Amino acid sequence: MMRNLLTKAVASAAVAVLMLGAAACSKEREGGSSDDGSTSGKGFAGDAVIGVALPSKTSENWVLAGDLFTNGLKEAGFKADVQYAGASTTVADQQAQISAMITKGAKVIVIGATDAAQLSTQVKQAKESGAVVIAYDRLITNTPDVDYYVAFDNFKVGQLQGQALLEGMKARKATGPWNIELFSGSPDDNNSAVFFNGAMDVLKPLIDKGDIVVGSGQTDVKQTAVQGWKAENAQQRMDSLLTSTYNGGRTLDGALSPNDTLARAVLTSIKGAGKALPVVTGQDSEAESVKSIMAGEQYSTINKDTRKLVAASIAMVKALQGGGSPEVNDTKSYDNGVKVVPSYLLPPVIVTKANAAESYANDPKLAPLTK
Ligand code: BGC
Repeated sequence: MMRNLLTKAVASAAVAVLMLGAAACSKEREGGSSDDGSTSGKGFAGDAVIGVALPSKTSENWVLAGDLFTNGLKEAGFKADVQYAGASTTVADQQAQISAMITKGAKVIVIGATDAAQLSTQVKQAKESGAVVIAYDRLITNTPDVDYYVAFDNFKVGQLQGQALLEGMKARKATGPWNIELFSGSPDDNNSAVFFNGAMDVLKPLIDKGDIVVGSGQTDVKQTAVQGWKAENAQQRMDSLLTSTYNGGRTLDGALSPNDTLARAVLTSIKGAGKALPVVTGQDSEAESVKSIMAGEQYSTINKDTRKLVAASIAMVKALQGGGSPEVNDTKSYDNGVKVVPSYLLPPVIVTKANAAESYANDPKLAPLTK
């Protein structure tokens, strides 16, 4: 009953919003612009070109996203132009790909930025051509020309990683001090600092109290960065930390790793040195890491279901095609240095051995790994 009333209230509010939206649209057509920076407008043809510019395939989720965008956009009737930046000249590749999408007349360009700060010229051109720009998973910084952001809440991802690290260490040794090392992602990816800051939101108070000790003393995001999100770079850094800091019998209780690829690299390094495995966090629910968690090696990962994120992005494209405003659920958290970008955020879920079966129950690829 309550639900029905609510539904009715929501429906009439929606009508009111639509009417307001219509007023805003006609104002836009007269040359004005909507003041929240979001874009709604005339809509466009149902078979328009939609560009999707993804970074290089630094984790499984990017591979999956490309396939899902290609199929999902086609099913919705659009012409999908899905491109990946190459492995080496990633920034220039992506810039050229976005320019080509503009030339093809793309009405929406969805971008998983390879370098957050290097796309302002391209997104400006995209806006000038009349396209709507959606930042996908990674925010694009220092530009007014990004209309929407669709992502899992990345700060929350970092907080969950920090909490998992702490809980994992407590389960093995009830009280501190615990010795840890910190790893963060590639400095050109805006997410890297967001994940790190989220984790430090949990860990820093304990570091300040002395309950957690970062053995190497490297607590700055710059010192902990792993260029290009490359496994070999993380493995090398862990190798040298083991030599410099953990050679004299000091135990390493935990390692904060921002994703699964780097978590496995850290574990490989520690195994290679013949040392006991610490609690290691991750993210992405990559198959190899889920296996490692079930085998009791990697401690945690994050479930960010790529199918949901791509579906949310395609829903935005459809809303724009119909001339409406895409749904957003956050207009205060993700500031790109020029503006707060209206966002649609999905909730990330922490996964350990304890809840893996439950978390992946609806994932045909991962569910069998948890049996
Ligand atoms: C994504 C992560 C991914 C990383 C490396 C980040 O921007 O949010 O899911 O692990 O890039 O590909």
